[in-house]
Amino acid sequence: MNEKKKLPLPALSALELFAQVFHDDAQYAGGTGAAWAPGRVNLIGEHTDYNDGFVLPIAIDRVIAFAGRAREDFQVGLWSTHFSQYAQIALAGLPESFDAQREHLPAWARYVLGVMTELLRAGVRFSGFDAVVHGDVPVGGGMSSSAAIEVATAQACMFFSRGSFTIGQQDATLQPLEVAALCQRAEHIASGVRSGILDQAASCLGQPGKAILLDCRSLAHRYLPFDEPGISLVVIDTGVRRELASSAYNERRSQCEEATTMLRDIIARNESQNSPVGAIRALRDITQEQFARYGSELPGVLRRRAGYVIAEDARVIETVALLEMGAVEQVGSLLWLSHEGLRYEYEVSCPELDALAEIARQVPGVLGARMMGGGFGGCTINLVRNEAVEELRRAVDAQYPARTGLQATFDVCRAAGGPDSTLVS
Ligand code: GLA
Repeated sequence: MNEKKKLPLPALSALELFAQVFHDDAQYAGGTGAAWAPGRVNLIGEHTDYNDGFVLPIAIDRVIAFAGRAREDFQVGLWSTHFSQYAQIALAGLPESFDAQREHLPAWARYVLGVMTELLRAGVRFSGFDAVVHGDVPVGGGMSSSAAIEVATAQACMFFSRGSFTIGQQDATLQPLEVAALCQRAEHIASGVRSGILDQAASCLGQPGKAILLDCRSLAHRYLPFDEPGISLVVIDTGVRRELASSAYNERRSQCEEATTMLRDIIARNESQNSPVGAIRALRDITQEQFARYGSELPGVLRRRAGYVIAEDARVIETVALLEMGAVEQVGSLLWLSHEGLRYEYEVSCPELDALAEIARQVPGVLGARMMGGGFGGCTINLVRNEAVEELRRAVDAQYPARTGLQATFDVCRAAGGPDSTLVS
């Protein structure tokens, strides 16, 4: 029973529901338990991950949990509390049967199927289980519910495999960042979006009170303190979800690749004697000085996209320096700049996100705010002095519905740990 104490609330609720939902005569092996993984916020470094750049995410105290029991066979039975939907996955035919199974599954279960497929492709073996899936990461709300369900799936497969494979450091079958990369591939095949590694890495690497600086090229990472008691991390959800987001995301990615190729050619023509041009593989490799010199030779759209990414990478490095000095308050001004760049240069914001950022800007004690994640909806992240949190809430309640016709949802998050699991009986 003591074990139960470390369970996050969604895992506890899922455990309670398990016995009610799964009462058929499946043959179970082993006891009942839960596995979970967190969602994330990204302090700064937006749309830099797939440009081989830097990101500074924080795993948060919101998780998606699987609670249930291992089965004797190779079937996976899942009940999603959020969607009130049942889904079944047959492990035996994977990875070959991926497309056929995907077609018949609801969107949330496709992520689960994707992770299981990628685990099997990586040579990892595990058996079936039945589980209730329950979480408090807002679905589609910009806190990466998809990465949370993916990483929680990997954790659940390990947990219910009862020792066939392990996730951890050194001697484990899979290291946390291998799980992140595998979950990223799962996201690609499940959703068709060519997302970067930000979300999955943040979920896998979370530590209480820490932000994670990740170099998305080398995957080198280190932790920075993020536990200033006087400052709150507020996430405000616009309530907007737009279909357009995935095609626009892939389009931005292609534009960045195109801008890289053009800039590499321009720099090769101009600087062939003194710089190793072959080393330019992504926007990450172009310095701000080079961009200031040659950026004007790009067509307008590509100039704006590349200019934003190169400046955002520099802002991540600046933020790291501020956190190392304990100057969290000063990070705020970089968040405002990031939002401006995402709005006017990268063009992934929307009127609702801009409204939230503008409302926040008028509240004294809000140190900085910006849209977060892929864009075109989702949420803003706000760095707020504790004493200003309620005032921000009032300002949003008073102005946002009038400006947009929508209701925004308000969430105060804390930096929390990564995936975990435990047996309870
Ligand atoms: C989404 C993607 C991430 C990242 C962000 C933008 O959340 O899943 O990989 O690219 O958008 O920073």
